[in-house]
Amino acid sequence: MPKKTKRIGILTAGGDCPGINAAIRGVGKTAILEYGMEVIGISSGFLGLINKEYVVLEEAQLSGIITLGGTILGTSRENPFKKDSIFNSTEKPSLIKKHYDELELDALVCIGGNGTQRTASYLSDFGLNIIGIPKTIDNDVWGTDVTFGFDSALMIATDSIDRLHTTANSHKRIMVIEVMGHHAGWLALYSGIAGGGDMILMPEIEFDTSIMAKYLKKRAINKKPYSIVVVAEGIPCPKNQKAGDFIAEKIQELTGLETRETILGYLQRGGSPSPNDRLLATKYGTYAVELIAQGIYGVMVSSRNDAITAVPLKEVAGKLRTVPPDHPLIQKAMRMGVCFGNCQV
Ligand code: F6P
Repeated sequence: MPKKTKRIGILTAGGDCPGINAAIRGVGKTAILEYGMEVIGISSGFLGLINKEYVVLEEAQLSGIITLGGTILGTSRENPFKKDSIFNSTEKPSLIKKHYDELELDALVCIGGNGTQRTASYLSDFGLNIIGIPKTIDNDVWGTDVTFGFDSALMIATDSIDRLHTTANSHKRIMVIEVMGHHAGWLALYSGIAGGGDMILMPEIEFDTSIMAKYLKKRAINKKPYSIVVVAEGIPCPKNQKAGDFIAEKIQELTGLETRETILGYLQRGGSPSPNDRLLATKYGTYAVELIAQGIYGVMVSSRNDAITAVPLKEVAGKLRTVPPDHPLIQKAMRMGVCFGNCQV
């Protein structure tokens, strides 16, 4: 009897980011061309498995998508294990299992961030053969050194800080820029340093507004009439305010220096992936299929010291990778006079 061809499903869940299509392409092309597998694209994340909405992906459909931002499969923030007004916490997972069986899937590749990897881990416990692929501009997935999407967002945030520099200098103003990152400060730290920010505020480092004000006033006295303040969206601030607005107001109030704010928002998630993100997403995608070919499931592909490997989903689920406060970049920036809101002036 000829060996049955493996049939794999692929879905993208959570917030989109540049590089997802490169990962879909990596999975799909490797599965079809190298292993002769069939590939089913599930629409709109886990919602597509609940509603049994999918497309059969042919190799030709995967050509020309490496440059595209977003996700050709669509995404959603559906969490099937969350109880809502209609379903209890096992009804949606049971539907997903039913549709997974009806589609005769041998494995399901879940491309997503923290929430997706947690759901992927639960589905693995539920009896599905799962491989996770980490993506997010926040770079906060536990178990990997890097997620694709981060490098592209870093380029956009850095370019934006560069642009703020010129207008800040012309007007001699303080420019506050809020970048994304959820509860982690990776994007603020990296773009803040790459963009030559003077102050970087992130959730991992407690800040003191009076120290901040002193630092900014001292810069003004020391013939540095403008300053760039990079703020992570996840810093503690009043519930009804955006972090960037809150910090800009505080600075203006405490220093009297003219201050403006920019909330970078979804621009950081849109558009074409950077070359590094295309490469990482391709490596993750191809490795995911190699694992499936070997019958290894219940793991997330990951990058450790530049090598692609796999980590059990159980270890990843429910954890968050934040910036260690003793991160070497923080130490280096502090030695160069960058203020993290806690420095003694
Ligand atoms: O997870 C990526 C991210 O961009 C976060 O930085 C941000 O807080 C969140 O998604 C917002 O996304 P949405 O509005 O789509 O939920």
